[in-house]
Parts: sequence; C-alpha cells; structure tokens
Amino acid sequence: MAKYYASSISSSLSSSSSSSSHHPMSAASLSSGAATSSRLLLPSARLSLSSSSSRLLSSASSFPSLKCLRSSPRLPLLRSNQKASAMSTVAAAASDPAQLKSAREDIKQLLKSTFCHPILVRLGWHDAGTYNKNIEEWPKRGGANGSLRFEIELNHAANAGLVNALKLVQPIKDKYSGVTYADLFQLASATAIEEAGGPKIPMKYGRVDVSAPEDCPEEGRLPAAGPPSPADHLREVFYRMGLDDKEIVALSGAHTLGRSRPERSGWGKPETKYTKNGPGAPGGQSWTVEWLQFDNSYFKDIKERRDEDLLVLPTDAVLFEDPSFKVYAEKYAQDQDAFFKDYAEAHAKLSNLGAKFDPPEGVAIADGAGEKFVAAKYSSGKRELSDAMKQKIRAEYEAVGGSPDRPLPTNYFLNIMIVIAVLATLTYFLGN
Ligand code: HEM
Repeated sequence: MAKYYASSISSSLSSSSSSSSHHPMSAASLSSGAATSSRLLLPSARLSLSSSSSRLLSSASSFPSLKCLRSSPRLPLLRSNQKASAMSTVAAAASDPAQLKSAREDIKQLLKSTFCHPILVRLGWHDAGTYNKNIEEWPKRGGANGSLRFEIELNHAANAGLVNALKLVQPIKDKYSGVTYADLFQLASATAIEEAGGPKIPMKYGRVDVSAPEDCPEEGRLPAAGPPSPADHLREVFYRMGLDDKEIVALSGAHTLGRSRPERSGWGKPETKYTKNGPGAPGGQSWTVEWLQFDNSYFKDIKERRDEDLLVLPTDAVLFEDPSFKVYAEKYAQDQDAFFKDYAEAHAKLSNLGAKFDPPEGVAIADGAGEKFVAAKYSSGKRELSDAMKQKIRAEYEAVGGSPDRPLPTNYFLNIMIVIAVLATLTYFLGN
C-alpha cells in the first residue's frame, strides 16, 4: 500500500479544538450505535453538552478554556482570521479566475507536501452543508459563503478540528487577494478529491464571501453521526439542503478518505493498524485501508465488515440498512464508475449550495497545466484536412516535381551516385 505523510500541523493542533463536541448521545442512540456495529467507539467525555451550552462555548470571551487558546499556537491563525474578517467587510467580491488557477496549483503542492486531502474535503463540505433551502435570503440561508472562517462557526461542535484546515489554506488566501474564502474552501475540497484519485468535479467559481461573524449560521445544521434514527436524521438534514437519497449515499462515499479522531468528534478508535504510523499525525480510525485514496472501498468495506479496525458510524451503516439508500450503496460497492459519476455530480451540487455567484452564472477555470495527457484523446477519429492545408501540401509536392495523388518519380541517377559513394567509403576503410 502506498503510504503517505499527512499534515503534522494537524496533529500539533488537534487537541486545541476539542473543547466542544457535536455528538450528544442519548441512551437510545448509544444502543442503536452499539447494535449497528461492534466497531463503533462511542463518543467520550463530552456526551451531554446541550446545544445552548455548546453555543456558550463558542464565545471565547465567556469561557476560560477558549481564552487559553488565545495564547496557544492557534493565536496567529485567529489573529489573521480576525484581520481577514475585518478586511472582508469591505472586500467580499467574487474570485479572479487567473488567481483561482494559481491557487489551485498551490493547493496541489500543499496536498503533495502535507497529505491533508481528507480535512480539506471536510472543510468544503462543512462550509456548504449549512444550507437551508427554506430560507431565501443570502447569507441567512447558509451554504458555501466562507462563513466557516469565523471563529464562532469554527467553534461549532461539528467543526472540531477544522481550524487546522483553515490554518493550512490561510497562506494561500493571503497570497491571492482575488480569491474568496468561499471559493478557496470549495476549490481545496474538489482539488483534494481529484488529487486523491477521484473523479473530475464540474466546478464553477465566483462565490461571494459573507463579511462578518454575524452572518454565520446557527449551530446544529450539520448531521450528527449517532442520532436515534440515522436514516430519518440524514433525510431531515440533507433534504433541508435540497439533496436526495442518491446524493446522500454518493456524498457519504467521501468517507473513503480520512479518519475520525475521538479527541475531535468523539468517534473512532484512538489508533488502528492503519493509522498508528500515520501517514502524518498518527492515530484515529479510518473507514478504509487506503484512506488517502479516493475509490469505492468505503462501500465495499461497510458491506463486508470484515475488519474491526475500520470505522462504521451509525450513519454509514444505515446506507446498507435503509431500503432506498441500499439500492445506491450496493450499486456503488460493485461499480466504481457509477459511484464516481454520481459523486462528481453530487459534490458539484453541494459546493454550490447557498452560494451567491458574481457573475451570477459563475466562472469556470480551465484545466491548463494540471490536465493529464490522454493519448486516446488526440488519436481517436480521423479528421478531414482543411482546404488551406491541402493546398499547402500540394504546393510542397509540386515544388519537388511530384503530386500528392501519385508517388514521386524515382531518381535513378541519385540512387546510383549514393551506392557508388557507399562502396568507395567501404573500399577506403577496408583497404586500410
Ligand atoms: C452523512 C452524514 C455525515 C456524518 C454524520 C459525518 C460525520 C463525520 C465524522 C464524525 C467525522 C470525523 C471527524 C473527526 O473526528 O475528525 C467525519 C470526517 C470526515 N467527513 Fe464526514 N460526515 C458526514 C458526511 C460527510 C460528507 C457529505 C462528506 C464530504 C462530501 C464528508 C467528508 C468527511 C471527511 C473527508 C472526513 C475525514 C476528515 C479527516 O480525516 O480529517 N462527510 N465525518
């Protein structure tokens, strides 16, 4: 198995964001989780956090542990974050295509050096996944608007650990003033999927940023991993985003990447044989063996459940239990192409949720340097030559006394002279 080396920044900061949890586990959810899979590790210490108390946690000024963070390694990030938010009250314009393209190359470099693919995917998903289709007004409706950069939203329990992702992309944001956070988060996520071997995602850009923490959505819009009735919960949350059963199953397939860490979400083992040596910051529990490779192994592994070291959340397990979800989960376990196609469409849709585009139709960025060379693309199918090209070829033939319609006449005299020259050379060398 190809092994990679993930971000050490993630590890060094991982504990700092664990002051809140998003998985309040009722007795019912505990039993449903345990019944669902013996592999489940239940959320630790922070089980009984009510939503009002977790909201309290998001206010650093009123909570001592978060005050401590201000003198932690996160300080520079939070400062630059605050600076950015102050700046963004005046500069919430949409992104510049040329800068987006360069930023994409920088993200590729970041991925190559830190192998942070999973957390960048989660960053994009958590910015977009707050969308509420029943609210028309932007940015109240939530979605891909860059609000996740603000401390208050980063401190939502569901976003535990994502401060590390923001820290990774912040230097790229600082370099490209013409790229919005909203676009950068989605660009990073789509690039991570593609670079991990996943499908090409038909993205568009031009998302406008929200400008102040007051524009952040309220806590609780993202899904929980261990709700009492996982299928109902997934439908409630994803239908609110305007997504359907097929899209729920396809998007869940993103868990083919990454790990769950008990100190962040409360889910997963502290380490497994697949994570104990990293790549990068060791630990956590992955859903798949090759958790930096985007493929359909998530669906195969959940179906087979042959390895105690692989994670199955209640919301993963239900994909093979609910009759409607199961149709898609079975299909994706068997057919990676079908999964890739549906995933790419669903991911693009997710990335646009709630976004305000400028221009309204959005902008595409050309593939350019990053595009892989595909020989078949250039060799398949015969193409008719243009008239100008035919004329040029005819003129070149005629200049040497020939025609494209018949072969050139044989020049016997020239051939005899060449044979004589070769023989003379050989005689000279052999004679010596
Ligand atoms: C269906 C409902 C979902 C639930 C309940 C859920 C829950 C979780 C949980 C508990 C974690 C572990 C976080 C941690 O401890 O660091 C996680 C990680 C992750 N999630 Fe989800 N998720 C869901 C859907 C999605 C979707 C739709 C995507 C992307 C399209 C996604 C992408 C990821 C990725 C890539 C990770 C790994 C992050 C890392 O390794 O740092 N998830 N998710």
